[in-house]
Amino acid sequence: MTDKLIIFDTTLRDGEQSPGASMTKDEKLRIARQLERLRVDVIEAGFAASSNGDFEAVQLIANHIKDSTICSLSRANDRDIARAAEALKGANSARIHTFIATSALHMEKKLRMTPEEVLEQAKLSVRFARNLVGDVEFSPEDGYRSDVDFLCRVLEAVINEGATTLNIPDTVGYAVPELYGNFIKTLRERVPNSDKAIWSVHCHNDLGMAVANSLAGVKIGGARQVECTINGLGERAGNCSLEEVVMAVRTRRDYFGLDLNIDPVHIVAASRMVSQTTGFVVQPNKAVVGANAFAHASGIHQDGVLKARDTYEIMRAEDVGWSANKIVLGKLSGRNAFKQRLQDLGVSLDSEQEINHAFTKFKELADRKSEIFDEDILALVSEESVAADQEAFAFVSLSQRSETGEKPFASIVFTAHGQEIASESEGNGPVDASLKAIEARVKSGAEMVLYSVNAISDSTESQGEVTVRLQNSGRVVNGVGADPDIVVASAKAYLSALNKLHSKADRVAAQG
Ligand code: KIV
Ligand code: ZN
Repeated sequence: MTDKLIIFDTTLRDGEQSPGASMTKDEKLRIARQLERLRVDVIEAGFAASSNGDFEAVQLIANHIKDSTICSLSRANDRDIARAAEALKGANSARIHTFIATSALHMEKKLRMTPEEVLEQAKLSVRFARNLVGDVEFSPEDGYRSDVDFLCRVLEAVINEGATTLNIPDTVGYAVPELYGNFIKTLRERVPNSDKAIWSVHCHNDLGMAVANSLAGVKIGGARQVECTINGLGERAGNCSLEEVVMAVRTRRDYFGLDLNIDPVHIVAASRMVSQTTGFVVQPNKAVVGANAFAHASGIHQDGVLKARDTYEIMRAEDVGWSANKIVLGKLSGRNAFKQRLQDLGVSLDSEQEINHAFTKFKELADRKSEIFDEDILALVSEESVAADQEAFAFVSLSQRSETGEKPFASIVFTAHGQEIASESEGNGPVDASLKAIEARVKSGAEMVLYSVNAISDSTESQGEVTVRLQNSGRVVNGVGADPDIVVASAKAYLSALNKLHSKADRVAAQG
């Protein structure tokens, strides 16, 4: 008999806290469906009390996802906890995750509370939450930098109040593996009722050690839950990456001796979906999900792999879903084949009308591009979800001229609140001219802080996927657009970022 390691995904909460990564509730539901397909044990769907949008997203996910536990974060106060419980009402299995900072620095400078006040608040909150749901997780924020004696008192007290999971965050990514593992071990040894709860690790990646620290927390410390995000998405340098932890525990089962519920074959699709939705491109050499993760360029390696795969491969690409990277459909494919492919990719569009609309878009794309890859379909449905949200701005058409020695020029038509607008401009290049033409009419005043183009698949026939990051009045948003024509993709990405700037969200930062 082996132990089980619980995978707690926080892409939709901690991941979304990454500047520019905010998602609409439909995008979140689509990702939650993919996480359910991946058989993630717990999905942290958001922070219900932080905004109406987050509340609705948690509620939507709680109402639709039935195989994973759905969790909402909440600060340690009755209002937040009641709001989380309300949003989770429809869940088959609900968890409230309440947190309060316990490090001297955070208590004194941020909360302006004494340790005794924090202890009392933690107890009251867990007690209150336990009266609303049976599954309550408690996190001492900045736990790793907290005084160990005080932390032990807090943890013992919240277990007595009914906390079922204790999560020890390395909020600022300060830990190193051996010390973090021993820290968890010490806490488990010193808290007298430690066996009454499941211990969890939550590591940030500021020093690039989030995965190593989490695994040390499991191996040395005996934690049985890991908190992580797809692609390691998260504030600053991100969170512990789900795909790396899962594949480490699976590939080195000889060492960890732990079982997982996860079905890894859906990992690559999940990675693509999160990247396309947020505009956070996955680096090519990223473990497991990077484009080069299974590519053998050197002649010696290629020769070895051809003779015996395991000479240079410790995992099989198809086990994490890389075989999905193939031609799937073309212009002769019918609606049923398209619908089936959507299902295989884990995309469920809510109505027949949405499927019809996506199918029309697919046919238009197939007319321009002979081979349609899974990535193309995912990009297409990402755009669909934006359209479904009835955004303020939408792309209509574009023509542009660029010739050596001539000033590039673009003429664009787009809609603003349903009204068609035509605009034109010169620029340093065709992309610059197109975005200047949009800005000339919208006058957002936003500053562009990132522009990147990425080929969705691997040839010049590929669609270009463009990410545009805009900053305005302290808000940062990412817009993503895909098209075989990268100038059009850029215009779509710019309009998508404007839409996000337009839909102002009143969020409360989890660590604020
Ligand atoms: O990093 C952190 O401390 C958190 C808590 C809110 C759990 O995300
Ligand atoms: Zn965190």
